[in-house]
Order: sequence, then C-alpha cells, then structure tokens
Amino acid sequence: MAKRDRDSRRLRSRAWFDNPHNPGMTALYLERQLNFGLTRDELQSGRPVIGIAQTGSDIAPCNRHHLELAKRVRDGIIASGGVPFEFPVHPVQETLKRPTASIDRNLQYLSLVEVLHGYPIDGVVLLTGCDKTTPALLMGAATVDIPAIVLSGGPMLNGWWNRVRAGSGVVIWEARKQQAAGNIGYEEFIDIVTDAAPSIGHCNSMGTASTMNALAEALGMSLPGCAAIPAPYRQRAQMAYATGARIVDMVWEDLRPSTILTRQAFENAIVVNSAIGGSTNAPIHLTALARHAGVDLPLAEWQRIGYEIPLLVNMQPAGEYLGEEYYRAGGLPAVMRTLLDAALIHGDIPTASGRSVRENVQTATIADPDVIRSLDNPLVANAGFLVMRGNLFDTAIMKTSVISADFRRRYLSDPNDVMAFEGRAIVFEGPEDYHARIDDPELDIDEHCVLVMRGTGPQGYPGAAEVVNMQPPAALIRRGIDALPCIGDGRQSGTSGSPSILNAAPEAAVGGNLALLKTGDRLRVDLKQCRVDMLIGTDELDARRQALDAAGGYPMPASQTPWQAIQRGLVSQLDQGMVLEPAVPFQRIAAKG
Ligand code: FES
Ligand code: MG
Repeated sequence: MAKRDRDSRRLRSRAWFDNPHNPGMTALYLERQLNFGLTRDELQSGRPVIGIAQTGSDIAPCNRHHLELAKRVRDGIIASGGVPFEFPVHPVQETLKRPTASIDRNLQYLSLVEVLHGYPIDGVVLLTGCDKTTPALLMGAATVDIPAIVLSGGPMLNGWWNRVRAGSGVVIWEARKQQAAGNIGYEEFIDIVTDAAPSIGHCNSMGTASTMNALAEALGMSLPGCAAIPAPYRQRAQMAYATGARIVDMVWEDLRPSTILTRQAFENAIVVNSAIGGSTNAPIHLTALARHAGVDLPLAEWQRIGYEIPLLVNMQPAGEYLGEEYYRAGGLPAVMRTLLDAALIHGDIPTASGRSVRENVQTATIADPDVIRSLDNPLVANAGFLVMRGNLFDTAIMKTSVISADFRRRYLSDPNDVMAFEGRAIVFEGPEDYHARIDDPELDIDEHCVLVMRGTGPQGYPGAAEVVNMQPPAALIRRGIDALPCIGDGRQSGTSGSPSILNAAPEAAVGGNLALLKTGDRLRVDLKQCRVDMLIGTDELDARRQALDAAGGYPMPASQTPWQAIQRGLVSQLDQGMVLEPAVPFQRIAAKG
C-alpha cells in the first residue's frame, strides 16, 4: 500500500483555497465558500476536501436514504481530518425514468466528471444504489482518477407475499403471469407488487442494483462487507461513517481508482458475478467501466473466465432468499473467501480499505450454508454467461443458470441434440408492438416459437430498453407454458429469471442482421456451439439486405429530447459498454491538471 504522505501542498484543493501566487482568485474562492459558515481555518489548514456524490432525492427513492447516510459520511470525514463537500449528481432512477433509465447512466457519468474535475475536490465518496448509479459513478471516478470509495445504500428489507419471500422485480414477473392467467385482478396485482417494497433501499433481489454494488466491492472500490448490509440496518450507517473516515486516509495515501481497477480486479468481478447469480446488465456496465479505466476486457472474457463458476448465492431470481438472509449469511466477503480459498479469484491486489482482497476476506465465514453455498454444494454448476454468436448478430449474452427445469425439459432434452433447438420466429418491433400483438391469435404462437424483440438497442430505443424477457401469450400460460425462448437487441431486467439471449449487437437500428429477420423464419439456437442462426440462404439474406437499404434502413424513431439525440450520435453498442465513445480517451484527467 502507498505510504502516507500528509504534505498538504500536493492536495489539488490547495490550488483553489490556499494559493499565495494568486491571492485574488484564492480570496474569491474562499469568500463564497465561507458564506454559509465554513471557516478559513477549515479550508486553509491543509485538510483534504472530500466530495460526497449525492444520488438520493425524492425522484430517486432507491437512493433517497443517502440524504440521511451522508450525515454519517460527513461525521467520518470530519473525524478523520477532512472537510466534506456534498453535491448532487444528475438523478437516475430505474423504474420511473422514461424511456429508460439507462440513457441517463452516461449523463450521470458526464455530470460527475465535470464536478470532480472542475471543483476543489481531493477525494470522493460515491453514494450508489439503484442500478445505473453504481456504474455511472464508478465510471466518472475512473475517468478523473482522484481517490474514490463507494458507499452502497443497501437493499430494502425482504418483501413478502402469501408468507413467501417476494423479491423486487421478481414478484412483478410472477404477478403478471398470475394476472394473465386470470387468477388475480388489478387491485391485488398492485398490492402484491407494492408490498414487495417494504422499506428504504434498493431492490432486495439479486437484480442489477445488488449485482453492481457487489461488483463495486468485488473490484475493491468499497470497504469489505459494504454491499450486502440492508439499507435500514444500523450497520449501514456505521459503514457510512467508516467509509467517510477511510476516504481521507485514501487521499493521504494517494490511493486512486487506477491503482485498484486493474485487469485482475475486473477478473475477480466476473468470477464474483457468476457466483452471486449477477445481472445480465453487468457485462455492459463492467465493459463501460473497464474502457473508461483503460483496461482491456473483451466480452468473450465473460464466458472464458466466468462461465464455469458455480452459483453459490441462493437469492432470487435464480434462488430463494433475499437481501436480509444474504447479509446474515455473510454477504460478499463470505462468497469471496470461498472463491479465494479455491484460488478462483486474485487475493493479492489492492482495495480501497488499504488492504489486499485476501486480507479483507480471510476471516469471513458462511453463517448459513443454505443461503451461501460451498463450492461442493452449489445451486447451479455453470452459472456464468455464454457469449453467443451467429448470423443473427455478432455477440449476445445468455444467462443459462436461470433456465428452469421445465424449460430445459421442453427445449433442451431432445435425445438427438441435447443443447440445441429450432423454432419459428415471432418478431416484435419494440415493447409497444409486443404488448399490442402478443395475444393476437393470427400469430398462432405455440411452444415451438422464439419471441424476438428488436429496435430496442442503444440507438433504436435510446439507452436500450429492458424488454427482451417477453411473457408468452395468455392462452399459452393458461396451458402451463410460462416461458418461451426470447432473443433481442435490448436488455433485460436483472430481476428477471428468463433464459433470454439479449444485449445483441449490432442492433437492428444500426443495420444488424436482426433487421433482416421476418416472422415465420426458422431460427436455430445451439448452446453447445454458442450460436444463433437464421436458417435462411445467403441469396435470400442478400436480397433482404438490399431491400432494407433501399428502404433507408431500419426505422429509427425520432429523439424526444436533446440528450437522446446527442447520445445517439456518440454511443457505442452494448458489447462495447454503450459508452460515449468520445469520452473514452479522457483517462486519468486529474493527473493532467
Ligand atoms: Fe432502483 Fe431496483 S429500481 S434499485
Ligand atoms: Mg432494471
């Protein structure tokens, strides 16, 4: 670990607040900072100024209790000799934002970069929680590269329905099926879903929020044990204090994201993602973070490093329990110790705590072996993602660990070809088209169909919609078939247990082959070869391509806001992290002044 060097002359905030070479500007900076009660002593006695990147607000309820937690962060910063500067970043909330919250991940990233670069901040506490907030803040900290540490908000308390655990998101997919089957009405549907969110905090299942906060910890960017603490528990506020105290030391140690976010740290995160049953959004966000951090991490690495890692965490949607049991069972440190003992992750790499991964987790224990499994008793053997290819797209992701036994029986147990199946494509042009037509009897959808969703990638549905997991028609559900194979160029909620093939790149809207598919075409899915192919001759495909080009390409809906238009012009595909491409070359910008 870096040696402490308390020479305050190298603090970047000195250039603003204590610069004898420019008394005019120093006075101006001090004058306005003092107007709410700060003293000259606080700003001129060589204390690090610590930003607190606030993501909580009334329109971001998953992160709203950060407004309270920030007080304990401040206490920790002050006790450790720093000066807290809390500031808002552009709010992002997963369920409220139209057309999709993911379009704002890059906006939140940009806004944080501007604050960290343009203001006198020596280190920063990143208040994360709801899905996109964690990657956005990590990406911003990586680009600027000042000392940074994550404080997760933590999951809500467990939700319950009929005395069964009802996980955020997960319960919606289940309740929708019940409503489609005619078992429950509108009022009960709403009650079931809202009862599943009983407290402050982010989603309590292993959706994208729990996943990304776990991966922040796995990367070494938070204190050990931070991610799993439920939001209302006292340990959450105590972690806030410890995190505030720690960032001040990180400034003196000059411990920056570039020291922590190494290739090995990303490899650890991929392994951890499999072991926790992490979200299919994780490859998008980790790819984005790696690119901003300047780490080479091709999508294929997810399968190479992660596929054979077993599922250890028994948490919805892949398993049974929720955040409270997971925390009591030992949380991420217990998972990481299990992986470390089997030499599946790197132990001797630095983390925000100032200690190595090994030092962080070596005393962690599993308190409940049903919730956190041992390697010889996993829930699923190969819990990672397959990286699919073929003539329908260049890359797509599939989370095979959530394929149900019923689904496996129906699609994957052909005695002649155990891991492949063919189906008739039913193509939808976005979620609105799907909702309008899924129950149309003319489509004649049966269990031999594959539902395809297109027009939902980063360009086609700005930000890429979470819509690939499509429910079968109600008539099929009533016959007991509650899942069909789904393929698409959009994303899918991390709380969904659907075995979809998603994140397909390139998307239809930029001319990917998905745009050539027609309802009624035959598709072949081969999980052994990791391929999805349209069973269409090259002549026919060429003719369709010509027709598509002649028609001016796949129809792109108009942008509704300036940001949608701006992002469309700059953003890459999902396999490249959906980042703002012109932002990628701006790395470690704090060092450049
Ligand atoms: Fe915000 Fe799930 S919707 S954490
Ligand atoms: Mg989501």
